[in-house]
Amino acid sequence: MPNTVLIGAQWGDEGKGKIIDVLAGQVDIVVRYQGGNNAGHTVKIGDEHYVLHLIPSGILRDDQVCVIGNGLVVNPSALLDEIAEVEAAGKKVQGRLFVSDRAHIVFPYHRALDAAREALLAEGSKIGTTGRGIGPCYSDKVTRTGLRAGDLLTSDYPALLQSRLVEANKVLAAMGGETLDEKAVLADYLAVAERMRPYIKDTVTYLGDAIRQGQTVLFEGAQGTMLDIDFGTYPFVTSSSATAGGACTGSGVPPHKIDRVVGVIKAYTTRVGEGPFPTELFDADGERMRDAGGEYGATTGRPRRCGWFDAVVGRYAAMINGVDFWAMTKLDVLDTFETLRVCTAYEYEGERLTEMPASVNILEKCKPVYTDVPGWCEPTSHITRYEDLPARARSYVEYLCELMGGQLGILSVGPKRESTLRVGL
Ligand code: GDP
Ligand code: IMO
Ligand code: MG
Repeated sequence: MPNTVLIGAQWGDEGKGKIIDVLAGQVDIVVRYQGGNNAGHTVKIGDEHYVLHLIPSGILRDDQVCVIGNGLVVNPSALLDEIAEVEAAGKKVQGRLFVSDRAHIVFPYHRALDAAREALLAEGSKIGTTGRGIGPCYSDKVTRTGLRAGDLLTSDYPALLQSRLVEANKVLAAMGGETLDEKAVLADYLAVAERMRPYIKDTVTYLGDAIRQGQTVLFEGAQGTMLDIDFGTYPFVTSSSATAGGACTGSGVPPHKIDRVVGVIKAYTTRVGEGPFPTELFDADGERMRDAGGEYGATTGRPRRCGWFDAVVGRYAAMINGVDFWAMTKLDVLDTFETLRVCTAYEYEGERLTEMPASVNILEKCKPVYTDVPGWCEPTSHITRYEDLPARARSYVEYLCELMGGQLGILSVGPKRESTLRVGL
């Protein structure tokens, strides 16, 4: 398979983990390029159910090498726990998983700062973060006060961490947040650093060499386009580049080595956390989607907000990411709806908008303009060939692709590997 970037096209949780697992068997290396353990990527294989937060979903295959790229923020103690879980499931991890020596490290003070900042924000301004310390860790990266995986292995590390802890406690105290026991954190994180040693590597050189030798790479995006720090519904976003461009800066692989982009998109829309969501449903239809789709956060367990498909979002994601193929998921969740609504544009103060506005103040006031299409009212989960889908289900999918631009590559009709219809990919 050519070198492929896989991104989420909406607000995350599109089913990226499942599609990565499906495609990973066709590449040599799977690379996560941004985010941290705010992500929760679910993979269901037979009766087994895995949720990966930091380790690329390719680890559940047998032969692929997995890389945690320089663009991530890594909580090392969460990573070590996740490694233990994957090993307990019988998968080999050592020698197959590498963490970039340039990836930034999430320390307990980042989580404490995340909580303190959210607590200080007024209702309506809270972001509803996952509380994993993601924003504060990326802030330190950009302010140039972060510590990176490679630093954990140097003799300067204890003194560097000590000085960061002193500073973080001053900030936490000033914010009214919970301060940390400096000695205890230092002792814990010196031990954690030693346990990270076997995984830390110059992954930039490793990937450069591998690609030169003809090995193929699948880039696993986390979060989604609408949560991207530049292109999402700022400030209700995450702190990293979740769009396709992030694959280059988050891995060190140059753009001309990337052959194509797969956009993962749900057949409806969900969002977890705060922020505008024009097609959100507050009625029985929304409840039905949440129940049928099991729409509860894979990381925090929070109920996900549900709504109709938003083609303005889809078109915007197609443009920013350069989506070549769509992997559309969770079509089966819509099996019982008699009528499906598709948002084709927004109405803002009497004006029709067909492009995503930059300002959340505008987006919050946008009303969706819907086209109604008939549902198929038949189960689809057992279907294995695209041609065997009900004609109305095919029309729905083809209508969405036509609105967004880009070809259908994969259609998913259930959480398991086998509920996957390969169309053009
Ligand atoms: P990710 O963060 O993009 O990897 O997505 P999550 O794992 O957070 O959420 C997707 C959820 O939908 C998981 O529970 C998956 O097992 C499930 N899922 C994925 N594809 C399908 C599908 O086609 N149909 C159904 N019913 N569930 C799916
Ligand atoms: P995956 O990879 C859905 C959301 C949070 C919050 C905002 C900022 O599983 O699709 P953060 O903790 O990143 O500072 O929170 O982003 N968020 C996600 N929503 N899926 C995710 O990841 C998310 N990661 C972060 O809910 O609104
Ligand atoms: Mg998720």
